[in-house]
Amino acid sequence: MRLFLDTANIERIRQGVRWGVVSGVTTNPTLVAQEGRKDYQLVVKEICSIVDGPVSAEVVVEGVDDMISQARSIAAWHPNVVVKIPATPDGLEVTSRLSREGIRVNMTLCFSANQALLAALAGAAFVSPFVGRLDDIGQDGMALVKSIMDTYKEYDFDTEVIAASIRHPMHCVAAAQAGADIATIPFNVLEQMIKHPMTDAGNARFLADWHRVDGQNK
Ligand code: E4P
Repeated sequence: MRLFLDTANIERIRQGVRWGVVSGVTTNPTLVAQEGRKDYQLVVKEICSIVDGPVSAEVVVEGVDDMISQARSIAAWHPNVVVKIPATPDGLEVTSRLSREGIRVNMTLCFSANQALLAALAGAAFVSPFVGRLDDIGQDGMALVKSIMDTYKEYDFDTEVIAASIRHPMHCVAAAQAGADIATIPFNVLEQMIKHPMTDAGNARFLADWHRVDGQNK
């Protein structure tokens, strides 16, 4: 399973890339708004200059024609840009048409196996089941990821599954065990994945013991 960062925060993306484990980024209008940045294009281009992999940017208009026209503009920002299209009836048509043009689509806001099946049939490059938001309403978000993986395996679809709306490190373990191609995660979850109190305690002890040995040798 690969890891994408689910953020529009440039410093966090730089950090994740320095750690060598981040191979893409997903953004959405909420994440960009959280950074207080208004120029979506500039933000996305800056992200593309940092990470060498897919960077998802969301279409923020309605209606098939307007969505297609905005998606074409977004896709032209950088060769790594993937256009996020919602899993709606209009989104399905837009995804089919853009995919035929060779524009990569991440079908977002996916909450059912049927939506994921349609995303694959429409030629989406990625589909993003929202795990945390399903958990929030008392449904098993990771069960959806498993169900999509099982379905896709039967038919050898090329669409990659991004476990999205990840809230904590156990979601990452479960997504990997479910066979998700990618998990897109907030930066704090990436930190939680590497952090362990026993690693910190063990490391502090090793360093303290070594300083004692080192001191004796001087
Ligand atoms: C990813 O593509 C989504 O935008 C994101 O994971 C949504 O996460 P949230 O449910 O925490 O807002």
